[in-house]
Amino acid sequence: MNKLQLGVIFGSRSCEHEVSVISAVQLMRHVDREKYDVIPVYISQEGAWYTGSPLMEIGTYAPAFKADLPGITRVQPDVTARSGALIGYDRGSLLRGGGRSIVARLDCAIPVMHGLHGEDGSLQGLLELMDIPYASTGVAGSAIAMDKIMMKQCFRGMGFPVLKDLALTRSAWKKDAVEVIKRVEAALPYPLYVKPANLGSSIGVSRAEDFQSLSDALELAFSYDRRVLVEEAVNKPIEVNCAVLGFDDEVMPSVVEMPVTGGELLDFEGKYLRGGGAKGMASLSRVVPAPIGQALTQRVRDLSCDIFRALDCKGVIRVDYMIDPATDQLTITEINAIPGSLAFYLWDKSDPVITYPRLIDHMVTCALRAWEEKEENNLAFKSAILKSVKLEGAKGTKGAKA
Ligand SMILES: Nc1ncnc2c1ncn2[C@@H]1O[C@H](COP(=O)(O)OP(=O)(O)O)[C@@H](O)[C@H]1O
Ligand SMILES: [Mg+2]
Repeated sequence: MNKLQLGVIFGSRSCEHEVSVISAVQLMRHVDREKYDVIPVYISQEGAWYTGSPLMEIGTYAPAFKADLPGITRVQPDVTARSGALIGYDRGSLLRGGGRSIVARLDCAIPVMHGLHGEDGSLQGLLELMDIPYASTGVAGSAIAMDKIMMKQCFRGMGFPVLKDLALTRSAWKKDAVEVIKRVEAALPYPLYVKPANLGSSIGVSRAEDFQSLSDALELAFSYDRRVLVEEAVNKPIEVNCAVLGFDDEVMPSVVEMPVTGGELLDFEGKYLRGGGAKGMASLSRVVPAPIGQALTQRVRDLSCDIFRALDCKGVIRVDYMIDPATDQLTITEINAIPGSLAFYLWDKSDPVITYPRLIDHMVTCALRAWEEKEENNLAFKSAILKSVKLEGAKGTKGAKA
């Protein structure tokens, strides 16, 4: 039997580009080679697509990406439905009218992206157009999960617990920064958290205690995004995370983890650099299972599954929470449609244990199931409307000369 050609798509134009490289290289090392041929598909920080086996080595990316290594080919995806082809991109010969070759064909893709241009529904949209199975949440769910402002508005509507907040725009900030700060101060008490709407890895996130620190926090957040979320703070929160795996009616929560934060903002350095950095999210210090008691653990697991279903997720997601130690109140911090390291470190401590290669199997199964389900939809509704249409003007040239 032919092995399934498994594309692993990563990198892209995102502040979390490097984190994505780590997550993807880690994943590719754990793919069961008896079942799959791995096809790395790397999107550079400039947005160029590449494939080739050196992309499976972390050394290819440090200190800078080495595009001209033997074995690396510049490609572009064939967007023709069901082709799945990566077409060799040789600019000179393309201009001369030749030089197109199919370098690989993807049977299924695992997007391993974090942040914009990959985790946010954009790549998912491309994969829907290409009509190939892919192992991440779809367009709408990914977009809502990425956008902290929309996510919280949706969650409120669904009755899921989130903190009070205010959404701000860069245009208002540029027009009158003092008015914006006054508006925040009238709506929410200090301390506050300020976050770019569409980012992750704590980039651009700050705590504000007063007028000046709020002003600095907004300035920073608006340098990353047009839209910014300001949220009431939880004092020394206990943070817990839970991953969820599946699709449709088969939804499974992982063990619940408690990252060790000391009650402080878990910043980029704390997330990725403390353990030497080589393991991405897997290097963070954590307590597993989180010591929060059985009832709260169950609530976190149930709520995570409800969120997974509400956003019609697919593959692996991770939902992050804060517990206020003063009140025991549980609120959702955010949802990661493609979590760092695909949260494999939670699955291999879950019950039942799911090793990384089996996690990848599950994700591929979800991707294939979702694609097959989509095939059941009738996309070719036929009618006679075109026959009876008479448009103004000759041959559709509206406003053409009489
Ligand atoms: N409202 C809040 N109160 C207290 N701490 C917060 C709050 N919001 C965020 N944090 C801290 O900031 C971190 C990053 O925030 P988060 O919303 O998860 O952004 P990101 O998507 O960048 O990870 C959290 O893990 C937590 O440590
Ligand atoms: Mg977070």
